Amino acid sequence: MNRFFISLACLTLIGTGVSAQPKLTENNIPDVVKAMTTEEKAHFVVGVRYHEPPYKGKYLDGTGGVTYPIPRLGIPSIVMMDGPVGIRLDNNHTTCFPTGLLTAASWDKEIARKIGEAIGEESIDMGNDVILGPGMNILRNPLCGRNFEYFSEDPVLTGLIAAAYVNGVQSKGVGTSAKHFAANSQETNRLDGDSRLDTRTLREIYTKAFELCVRDSKPWTVMASYNYLNGEYTQENRGLLTDILRSEFGFDGLVVTDWTGKRNTPKQLNAGSDLLMGGHPNQTEHILECLKNGTMKMDDLDRACTKLLELIVKTPAFKGNKRTLKPDLRSHAKLARETAADGMVLLKNNGTLPFLPSKTALFGVYSYNTIQGGNGAAWVNSPHVINISDALQAQGFKLDSNLEELYVFYSAYISRDLKYNHKVNVHVGDAQKPELEITLPLIKASARDNDLAIITLGRISGEARDRILSKEFLLQEDETNLLETVCDEFHALGKKVVVVLNVCSPVETASWKDLPDAILCAWLPGEEGGNAIADVLTGKVNPSGRLPMTFPIDYFDAAGAEDFPYNFVSDKANESVVHPERRGLPLKNIAYTDYTEGIYVGYRYFCTNRKDVSYPFGYGLSYTSFSYSKPVVKVKGDKLTATVTVTNMGSIPGKEAVGFYVNAPLGSFKDKPSMELKEFGKTGLLQPGESQTLTFTVPIRQLASFNSDKSRWETAKGTYKAYFGADATKPAAEATFKVSAKNYPANRVCEPR
Ligand code: BGC
Repeated sequence: MNRFFISLACLTLIGTGVSAQPKLTENNIPDVVKAMTTEEKAHFVVGVRYHEPPYKGKYLDGTGGVTYPIPRLGIPSIVMMDGPVGIRLDNNHTTCFPTGLLTAASWDKEIARKIGEAIGEESIDMGNDVILGPGMNILRNPLCGRNFEYFSEDPVLTGLIAAAYVNGVQSKGVGTSAKHFAANSQETNRLDGDSRLDTRTLREIYTKAFELCVRDSKPWTVMASYNYLNGEYTQENRGLLTDILRSEFGFDGLVVTDWTGKRNTPKQLNAGSDLLMGGHPNQTEHILECLKNGTMKMDDLDRACTKLLELIVKTPAFKGNKRTLKPDLRSHAKLARETAADGMVLLKNNGTLPFLPSKTALFGVYSYNTIQGGNGAAWVNSPHVINISDALQAQGFKLDSNLEELYVFYSAYISRDLKYNHKVNVHVGDAQKPELEITLPLIKASARDNDLAIITLGRISGEARDRILSKEFLLQEDETNLLETVCDEFHALGKKVVVVLNVCSPVETASWKDLPDAILCAWLPGEEGGNAIADVLTGKVNPSGRLPMTFPIDYFDAAGAEDFPYNFVSDKANESVVHPERRGLPLKNIAYTDYTEGIYVGYRYFCTNRKDVSYPFGYGLSYTSFSYSKPVVKVKGDKLTATVTVTNMGSIPGKEAVGFYVNAPLGSFKDKPSMELKEFGKTGLLQPGESQTLTFTVPIRQLASFNSDKSRWETAKGTYKAYFGADATKPAAEATFKVSAKNYPANRVCEPR
């Protein structure tokens, strides 16, 4: 205990007497708040610098944040660790699960729940109380650097997958932090960029996912994002944090701020932020000063302390958990493999897949250096990463040894450049490794000597930087050359070529997808990625992933594509802070970003405007086929129940992801999307000929659109159309149902200025 603690404790002891000091229990939180001194309260709501005395050495390196302990009142510190896909620690191994985008691509809540459970278990082992995830911002643009951490362009897919994950983690007695609330869909100037959007868009797209997640899983905490929202920092935005999140969504947990000390402290607390993380001593001083000069109310501080105590009493730390530092890496690796295979999306297959182990020419640097996940808060120090090359060999493939030797040598060589070493570069985003140029004679020889070719194309990204259209969305010349030459040479000998996309987010596919015979989008699949890819290629697993985000033909086809820093090249590796010369300048897409597409994000735009895409939202092939029958929607009271029967028509077992989309009458609105996802689910593994009936229950309120003028949700009266099937452009079954008009009042908040 430092001197400050001791004198504080003594002062209080003199005033109250030892026996009068309550020790924190679940039932005496108001008494404990009363017993806290003002100084203690001002320290309590600000995270501590755990690298410094008196905390130094107590916490594992890489820990996200730690709260201030008050031992005299029986209040322990609690620990918060990143991040969504596994526990992020610098020097301890934990399991790296598949990234969020892949999890959502499974369209399977059960998968998300299982990953959550395992991360909850590892939290207990590593002494973690709150996992800083799920990351659930909307994929507004294919270039956001953190897309891989998030789930989807659709708020329902996002919100319900997030809820399942939260339920999984919290079932183990560990908290979650649904982040980053809200409208935080770009990394460029992430600390200070202003997301400017209209109220309807905010409600229907950017806060909807959080609403559903809160409704279905009650996350213990929500993290307020870094950005401004319509001119006000979200962390200082009472409309957002109190009027929407608490009053309307019914959130009763704690609001933690994303990790910055540079905000107006009393305004944050008044808005509804309860815990200021990572925490800076200035913030405590600021609170004390503002209380003295009357610019801050004690009530706000007491509320924040109450919320933090309510959180603490639920945590493993409070319950006396002793960390073992021995997570169950073996069984979780198995789970990582199974879950990864479930979210891979087969984009093309002309009968080539699945194939049996054979003599294979494996091209592409990422075949030998498979990317498990992205960088930044979601990076995980996993015990191993299974490369595609390792996995194929383990499953009996005979790899072209000339190619293998070259690529292994090249990978080792290039990794010596720190720029390409993700362990060093953890916070700034790994650089794209240039492809190795393979000469024509070597490609010719490999076509002659092997039965087939696999080419892996990789894309990595991370926190604090968005991807660059010209360098990272589009294929590069070295990649196109490789693809074209390998396809030419193998096809000339009647041999097949398969492309595996080991990517953090969509890449351009339209210009080259005709070349190979099959394309598997494997995303960033976690530490067991190579094994899961081999499982799908060989048919051990029949692919059942469906795209959670549209792959456009051209980047600029999407509405709002211009309103993103699509070719912004920073002159600093970490562009959290915009270069000093540009800071403060009113630069479009940097200082502010206008969400000009409004609610027409992703498929809402493409489907409504009947615009062609390369691969639509919900798209994905299987090695079998399914038929849909008996689509029915029944409305009863304030809910609807939709059912549809899915039958496996092929000759091998498979799972089918099913979306339930609705087209609503316009009512008082000038426009609505032609269809919106309202629920989804997945069949079990259906044997050939087997059927399963899926049932979706949706509150009628979730069919409503937001009328900004009247500040209310409105369901229009009339006939609604229901579409069943995952692919938004090709419904497999349809039904109609009727709903009567109803209004649901909301608070008028967060208006654009
Ligand atoms: C990230 C959060 C993360 C936090 C703690 C921030 O920079 O935006 O997602 O949870 O750091 O590491």
